[in-house]
Amino acid sequence: MNNYKRSADYIKAIIKENVDTAIVLGSGLGSLGDFIENKVEIPYASIPDFPVSTAPGHKGNLLYGLFKGKRIIAFQGRFHYYEGYTMQQVTYPVRVMKLLGVKQLIVTNAAGGVNKSYRAGDVMLIKDHINMLPNPLIGKNLEEFGERFTDMTIPYCSDLRSLAHKVSEELGICLHEGTYIGVTGPSYETPAEIKFFRTIGADAVGMSTVPEVIVANHCGIKVLGISVITNEATSEDASYFNNSDDVLLQGNKATEKVVRLVGSIVAEL
Ligand code: HPA
Repeated sequence: MNNYKRSADYIKAIIKENVDTAIVLGSGLGSLGDFIENKVEIPYASIPDFPVSTAPGHKGNLLYGLFKGKRIIAFQGRFHYYEGYTMQQVTYPVRVMKLLGVKQLIVTNAAGGVNKSYRAGDVMLIKDHINMLPNPLIGKNLEEFGERFTDMTIPYCSDLRSLAHKVSEELGICLHEGTYIGVTGPSYETPAEIKFFRTIGADAVGMSTVPEVIVANHCGIKVLGISVITNEATSEDASYFNNSDDVLLQGNKATEKVVRLVGSIVAEL
């Protein structure tokens, strides 16, 4: 608890005001940060007790400023379990944002399309998830944040999802809605695993997001989740191979669409 407080106090001394909205920028989406005005950039490395990110395509900065006229913080670079971080480190930013007053969190990620109708470059709103990672709430419960057993009936806020659909229609952006399955990685999935995930109801697969969403639900932060489908993880004949360059490329290509979508959502919050 003291660590979270030390990190939050350091950030508060810089940004001076509470913020309602936080955005976590996924692989290839970090450039959304370029659209933040009056930006203050706080390197993770300068924040006491804050972990530091190492993944390709991920910077390590907390950004503060105006996005579509709203004061927001954005996490440019996140921590993945596959990098060797503990689940407490992976979810550390969420508890810091809670201490900064954040009420709603928009999480973005790059994901493989498991649903056969999804194409690279598509965008999916996360309606629900399946967790294949360790649960980040295992261990002593921090009562200051929430209760021991967290309800996960509506992990992604219905009102925020309705807003996302309304906005996407207005913008003419096709927005799928589906279930995200969170896996450890770092190896991509085998054809048998993809088939299994599709069978159990997953539409997209990725190596992040679920831990942060669990911890956000624990401490009462509302969540909106958006996946950019960077590759079609649907090939069962090895005619297509997963490739991290493609993941970053598609993430970057979809940035413009995601910036418009997230921007219009933030404008209406
Ligand atoms: N699998 C897991 N994680 C991913 C993928 C994938 O195919 N694409 C982007 N992140």
